[in-house]
Amino acid sequence: MSILHAIESVRAEFQRTLRAVLEEAGKNAAAGGGPGGIESLRVRFLGRKGQVTALMARLKEASAEERPQVGKALNQLRQEIEEGIQKTQDSLEALACEEELRSEWVDITLDLERRPLGSLHPLTRIQYDLEDAFTSMGFEVLDGPHVETDYFNFEALNIPAHHPARDMQDTFYLEDGNLLRTHTSPIQVRGMMRLRPPFKIIGPGKVFRCERIDASHEVTFHQLEGMMVDRDIKVAHLIYFGKALLSRIFKKEVEVRLRPGYFPFVEPGFELDIRCLICGGPGCQVCKGVGWVELLPCGLIHPNVLRSGKIDPEEYSGFAFGLGLDRLVMMKFQIDDIRHLHSADLRFLKQFP
Ligand code: DAH
Repeated sequence: MSILHAIESVRAEFQRTLRAVLEEAGKNAAAGGGPGGIESLRVRFLGRKGQVTALMARLKEASAEERPQVGKALNQLRQEIEEGIQKTQDSLEALACEEELRSEWVDITLDLERRPLGSLHPLTRIQYDLEDAFTSMGFEVLDGPHVETDYFNFEALNIPAHHPARDMQDTFYLEDGNLLRTHTSPIQVRGMMRLRPPFKIIGPGKVFRCERIDASHEVTFHQLEGMMVDRDIKVAHLIYFGKALLSRIFKKEVEVRLRPGYFPFVEPGFELDIRCLICGGPGCQVCKGVGWVELLPCGLIHPNVLRSGKIDPEEYSGFAFGLGLDRLVMMKFQIDDIRHLHSADLRFLKQFP
């Protein structure tokens, strides 16, 4: 066969093989054209023992006049084959890439089955809300242990052993002489030990008392202690912050009044009442006909308490209050039995999404 014919037949063979490779690749894109793929094509035509190389070797067979034409045809063939292989390789790679994308594609718009999400307990909600309100007024949020010493729970709060006020709080004593805190007031003492005046703190948390359980009494309940110490703190400061606290909870201005109340750790001590939000004054079941609801025991900190916090009562004064959170949550969400709060009953909890 003349060399020019041979060139034509290699070209035709290359085209055929390329088509076969592409066809195979269509069926099996990821494998790059199957076993007889693009790489074997390169070896078969352009390799050291390949067909184009063999044709090159035959160039010397051509006569002197023929040689330029044959040389040109050979170069053209080689170029065609190189380009053909490169193009095919590129498009096979693109195909494989597409295939990979297709196989990894995830429809993120699909609606999945949703896992049920829990929600914050109404008590936690009120606590967080109050923490926000007070920190925005410059108060620091403090914590204290549930298991307290007699000193922090009573002694430092001006309730010495055998003081009749200890009877007001039925205490769970532990065998080691410690106790479960009966109120959040020990956080006041811890606050005074940590901070120097002027300071403002709140201390929310659980408290424990040996109560007979009924619709309005639980052995575990929640309080939020508040305390401010500075020079010249007066009852006016107490009223201001008490009102701010209650307006925040009820999301409206509330009318308040002070009545004298007795707590060993304050002098004078008060009960801060709010105008009944249900009847607005004339009296109803909720306020037991009085028109006022008792909400916030409070007072000016007793000098003995300041002293146990190493604060000089001649120089500083302060106010304190102890808010019961459970009754507040019950009023706000109209819950008629305190036992629901710790029931862990989903039928109850689901009402506060
Ligand atoms: N600790 C008191 C109690 O449990 C509540 C209380 C009353 C706290 C007056 C105070 C306060 O800070 O000033 O019952």
